[in-house]
This record gives sequence, structure tokens and C-alpha cells, in this order.
Amino acid sequence: MIAAASALAAKTAALRPAAQRAAFSSSGAARAVSGRIAVIGGGQMGSGIAQVAATHKHDVTLVDVSQEALERGRGYMAKSLKRVAKKQFPEDAQAQGRFVDEVLGRVSLSTSPAAAVGDAGLVIEAVVENIKVKQELFAGLAAAAPEGAILASNTSSLPIARIAEPLSAERKRRFLGLHFFNPVPQMKLVEVVRTDAADQQAVDDAVAFVKGIGKVPAVCKDTPGFIVNRLLLPYMMEAIRLLERDVASAQDIDTAMKLGAGYPMGPFQLCDYVGLDTIKFIVDGWHKEGQGLVGDKLFAPSAKLDELVAKGHLGVKTGKGFYEY
Ligand code: 3HC
Repeated sequence: MIAAASALAAKTAALRPAAQRAAFSSSGAARAVSGRIAVIGGGQMGSGIAQVAATHKHDVTLVDVSQEALERGRGYMAKSLKRVAKKQFPEDAQAQGRFVDEVLGRVSLSTSPAAAVGDAGLVIEAVVENIKVKQELFAGLAAAAPEGAILASNTSSLPIARIAEPLSAERKRRFLGLHFFNPVPQMKLVEVVRTDAADQQAVDDAVAFVKGIGKVPAVCKDTPGFIVNRLLLPYMMEAIRLLERDVASAQDIDTAMKLGAGYPMGPFQLCDYVGLDTIKFIVDGWHKEGQGLVGDKLFAPSAKLDELVAKGHLGVKTGKGFYEY
């Protein structure tokens, strides 16, 4: 996966745009993005972002390394859109079909990041969580995207300013985190993460975009985990430690948090849903680097989590994690 993402980054760097047009309307404190939306990475998150943007009438290009990966992304979108269509047009199969076709019709697929961002007003990256891959990718994207475009990363855990490090000061002014949540079509929140280098207009534009796609923005500083993951990861890790200390079973801990705290999923269901490899990657990264976190022990490694990941039991996606599927 990292090799594939590196290939994507290299491909981007090798190409240059035909035209670099300004991609925003002329004035106003909260301008919406007016160009095409380019989403780089056609996994669950990237295809979810592409789907939601297209549902709200944006022209979107979804980019991945191969036609096969793009078709997989298109499959995720089609499946999710059918669920949405059934609710929007109950009892009207034709209207459901038209809705799905219309939305998918607004999503172009491309294996060329540079071509995809040539007329983009907003570029959202959702590739593998690897800082080098993201930096290389953005170096290429910055060379190909219009000057006024917002460049954004959907990273869960990497510092936005570090991803933007190789970029020019001008690009950094319009470089942000736009952090979506899984399942993207259903989860209302998008964290808009501002670095010290980002300017207010970029934040306003991103907030307007987020509202325009029916989501609710929460603006926050570029600190590890932003808001949601900074609170969610210690919660998940504490749940795993309860299990390791044999305080209760995973089922009982999940039941307790669903019925006692009103969470839609218990922590183990949520871990399996997000992916145990993703959780391990995030906590290990924060623990290793320190990164000025208050109370690093919240992110200390867990033998139980390490063991499941080493066995390839990554949760729902592999059919086994804390539970079997
Ligand atoms: N596409 C479209 N709609 C979807 C969907 C999808 N992929 N998945 C769920 N939905 C919709 C359903 O259609 C249904 O809509 P309705 O209420 O209007 O009928 C609604 O979501 C509820 O779905 P279900 O009835 O099938 O199932 P649940 O009630 O169990 O809800 C859930 C599923 C929405 C996933 C809910 O359990 C939930 O909110 N879980 C918590 C998810 C969460 O915390 N996500 C954040 C993870 S952290 C993260 O992403 C950050 C990253 O950086 C790690």
C-alpha cells in the first residue's frame, strides 16, 4: 500500500499542469470552493469524501494508483449511495436509480493526480498514513494545482504542518487539515485543522465548503489527534487495558458504554470498525514521538492490541478483531 502511494506521489511530481487558474470567486469572507474537488486516495475515506462532495453537486475527480483501486472506490460509493437513495426515495426504485447515477456521474476517476488537480479549487488527500508519502505527494500536487486552491489532508494523526513542510510559504497559507469520520456519508463532523501558517481566508473557505456539503465544521489547532481522536484514542486504549486487567469482557464493556453512556458503539466494536492497525499506528506514533502530549502513558503500547495486529486480526475488514464477523 505504501509502495502504491509512493508511486502516486512520484507520478504527481513528474507532471506539470497545462493551466493554473484561480479557483475561487472574487470576494467575500466565506467563499465556497468553486473549482473541481480532487480527492486523492479511493479507499473508504477518500471515496466517502468524493461521494459526499458529489452528492452536493460538486464535480469531483477521485484519484488512485490503478483502475482496479478506482473501481473498488466506485463500488463503495455505489453501495453507500443505494442506502441513501432508499431513504430519500422510498418506494420509488426509478428515482433511486436516477439519484445514484447522477451522483456517480459527477465523479470522474483518474490515475493521474496532476491532471486531476489542474482545475481543482480544493484537493483532499486521503492516502496511507505515511509522512514521507504524503510530503512527496503534496510536493507534486502543489506544482500542479491552481495557485488559489486549498490543499488539505484527511490525516488522522500526523501533524498538518509537518505534511506541509516541503511546500512554499504561499502554499502553506492555504494548507489545512480536513478530517472526516467513518462512515463519511453518515458522520456529520469535519474537523478543520489550522496550522500557524494558514490564513483566515483559507479557514473560512474550508468552513464554507464543509457547510455546503451538509457537514458541521469544528475548527481546531494543529495538535496531535485534533479534537476527536485526542479524546477517542485514550478511551479506546483504556478499554483495552480494562480487558487486559480482566475487569470485564469486551461484550460487557461495550454494553456498558452503549447503555450507560449512550455511545452508538462500544469501544471494542469501534476499534474493530476503525481497524486495529489504524489504532496501533496512531498510538505508537504519538507514544514514540512524545510530541508534547500531556500524559504519554495514555498512549502506551498494549500487548493485546499488538498481538491482534501481529496475527492480522485487524477488525471488521479482516473478519476478526476483538470480535468475529
Ligand atoms: N453510507 C450511507 N449511510 C450509512 C452508512 C454508509 N456507509 N453507514 C451507515 N449509514 C446510515 C444508515 O443508512 C442509517 O441511516 P438512518 O438512521 O437514516 O436510517 C444510519 O447510518 C444508521 O445505520 P445502521 O442502522 O445500519 O446502523 P447503526 O445504527 O448501528 O449505525 C453507525 C451505524 C452510523 C456506524 C453507528 O454505529 C455509529 O455512529 N458508530 C460510531 C461511528 C464512529 O464513532 N465513527 C468515528 C470513528 S473515528 C474516525 O473515523 C476517525 C479516524 O481518524 C480514525
